[in-house]
Parts: sequence; structure tokens; C-alpha cells
Amino acid sequence: MSEFKKDEKRAAPFLEMKKVSKIYTPSRQHHIKAVNDLSFTIDKGEFVTLVGPSGCGKSTTLRMIAGFLRPTSGDILIEGKSITALGPEMRNIPMVFQNYALFPHMTVFENIAYGLEAKNLPFDAVAHDVAMICQMLNLVGTETRHPNELSDGQQQRVALARALVLKPKMMLFDEPLSNLDPRLRIQTRFEIKRMQQLLGITVLYVTHDQAEALSIPDRILVMNRGTIVQEGRPRALYDRPGTPFVADFISNANFFDGFVLSASAETIQLSIQEMEFTVSRNRCSTFVEQDDSLLVAINPISVGMSPFEGECGFNQCVGIVRSSLFVGQSFEYRVNFGDETIRVLHPNLLGGVREFEEGTPVILTFYPESFNLYGREVDHHER
Ligand SMILES: Nc1ncnc2c1ncn2[C@@H]1O[C@H](COP(=O)(O)OP(=O)(O)OP(=O)(O)O)[C@@H](O)[C@H]1O
Ligand SMILES: [Mg+2]
Repeated sequence: MSEFKKDEKRAAPFLEMKKVSKIYTPSRQHHIKAVNDLSFTIDKGEFVTLVGPSGCGKSTTLRMIAGFLRPTSGDILIEGKSITALGPEMRNIPMVFQNYALFPHMTVFENIAYGLEAKNLPFDAVAHDVAMICQMLNLVGTETRHPNELSDGQQQRVALARALVLKPKMMLFDEPLSNLDPRLRIQTRFEIKRMQQLLGITVLYVTHDQAEALSIPDRILVMNRGTIVQEGRPRALYDRPGTPFVADFISNANFFDGFVLSASAETIQLSIQEMEFTVSRNRCSTFVEQDDSLLVAINPISVGMSPFEGECGFNQCVGIVRSSLFVGQSFEYRVNFGDETIRVLHPNLLGGVREFEEGTPVILTFYPESFNLYGREVDHHER
């Protein structure tokens, strides 16, 4: 029986961070806790994005996994074995940066071959592997050029090739595409994802780009102040952020004070500004009763806007457009909502979506089934 149980046991995750902390001590008096009791796992072949505000400890985390930094405490395991004491050369977990970090005096071929030559492989084997990777990443014809003779996109692909040619089981990316223009960014993002799937590599990818954070991974880790505050599949995280901080960071939510008028087993009757809404209890992260105050997060994409023609219906109110910004795929409006302002994203569906100018009265339609409600005990500072 015990043998059977052993076989049934789930394989160890590919990467496991176990209560990892990192304190920088730039001087005797000065301590910076960059990573704080951080724990998470990544499965083999999984693509995970790591997001969070500037300074929350993302790069520090990647550097500890790559082996460039030693944790102050905690343990890092790969396939169940601790790698905390190993140097970067023993880990084979390459990291791709924003600034590519190519060797300027070497050709594309030499840059890509560098890691293989360091392993003393015969030249024929090196040439073969470099040729293969150049084929895969559309770099054929650039092999004899130097980095300063390449476009940004090509330089980024060389940086990727240089890491991939070592056939790593895991790769780390630290905002690799932020230097590229938006079109190239989308293209390179697809290339990274394709290579990752083709080669079955486990990836941890730091990005500031919300679209990137949501569109490429199997799972997102949201970090704040040195630790993970929520993790989940992109859609789940976007629709149901667990805290106001995540709602703000992932979906740019609007926040309003709500007041509980009454509460039943299934629903909460809520007032926001002058309006009343019925919201399912399962949209609320905490238990609430009548007379409680709440924080209500409303996604700018979940508010309808239509011309005001004299009447308002259910879950609707009138607002005056304060500002309007056309950003191609949508209009970004700020509209009066009671004595506050609400941000509304109105998709620019082709075929005649009306643009509302400043000062225009509009009908705002709310969808309470999309609201996220948070208890007042939540640390406001977290937002
Ligand atoms: N070498 C260092 N010495 C001292 N403090 C450092 C060092 N590197 C980073 N820090 C501090 O540690 C904290 C975390 O830094 P880190 O670079 O990991 O943040 P990050 O999440 O990558 O931020 P960003 O999104 O801006 O790149 C910050 O407060 C930073 O100032
Ligand atoms: Mg960083």
C-alpha cells in the first residue's frame, strides 16, 4: 500500500522557491528587504509571468534563480534538489535582459556560439547548433555581422538564440521586449512562446506590459513588496482579482465606496454614490452584513456608454463626459459619476461607434455581476 502511494505521489515541481528572502546591505546602517519570505512553484514546461510594481523584487528574484545572487535565507530547488549553493555556470538557467547584453566586438555567430565554446565542444558541433538556432529564429544571413549592424529585433533574437542554443530546461526573461516597438514586440512575443512550446522549456518571464502579462503565460504571479500576493490563470485573475491591489494593477479598476443596505444568503444590496445595485455574494471577498462599508472595484471595460435621450433604465445613470481620449481600439473616457469620476473604456467597434465629446451627457450602464467587492479591513496602502 505504501509503495503504491509512493508511485502515486505527484512529481516535484520543476522549480520551487521555499521561503526565499533577500536583504541588500549597501551599508552597515542600511538594509533593504527586496524579497520577503517568497514561496512559489513552477511546473515543468510551464510559462509563468511575474508582474508587480517597480522595486517589488522581480529582478532580484530572477537573479537568485539564475545564480547571480545568493538568497539571505530560504531554499531554491530544481526538480526537488537544492541549487541554492550552486554558481550560475552549474545551473544552466540563462536570463534574457531588456538591453540584450550582447558582446559588441563579436559577430552574431560568435555571440551565439560563445556558451557552446565555453563547454569545449568540437567546432563542427558548435557550427551545427548555431546554424539550427539561426534557422529557427530567422537570423540566417546575419551570422557575420556585429550587433551594431543589426536592428533591435534582430539583436533581441540573437540574445534569445544565445540562450536557447545551450538547450536549457528553464529560461528567465527580465522585460526582454521593452526596447522594441509595439509591432515587433508582438511578433517576438509569439516567437518566444513558440520556441518555448517547441522545446518544452520552463519559463519565468518578468514584464511591465499588461497585455503581455496576460496573453502569453499559463499562469501569472503578482508580486508586491517582495512577496507573491496572488497567482492564477490570466482570465481568472483579470475577472476576479483577489485584492484591490491586484484589481488596480491587473485591470486598472475604478474604486468606489459602497454601503451595504441589506444582505441575504445569496445577494448583497449595495449603494454606490446615489445608485443601488444587487450583487451576488460570490463577488465579495469577505463576509459582510447590513450597514457595512465596502470597497467596490469596477473594471473600465465593464461599463456601457450610450447617448442620453431623456430617460434612464435599470442599473443606469446619467453622467457628463469630462474627457475623451482616442487610443485606436477604444475610447478612454472620464465621466462624472455622482461626485466622483469614473474611467470607461468604450471599444471602437468598426462601423460607426459614436464618439462622445467633452460636456456631452451620456447614459452609463453598470453590470453588477462584474463588480468585485472587498472588505474595508483591506490595507489601503496595498493599493
Ligand atoms: N544591488 C542592490 N543593492 C541595494 N539595493 C538593491 C539592489 N538591487 C536592487 N535593490 C533594491 O531592492 C528592491 C527590489 O529591486 P528589484 O530590482 O528586484 O525590483 P524590480 O521589481 O525588478 O523593479 P523594476 O520593475 O523597477 O525593475 C528595490 O528597492 C531596489 O532599490
Ligand atoms: Mg527589474
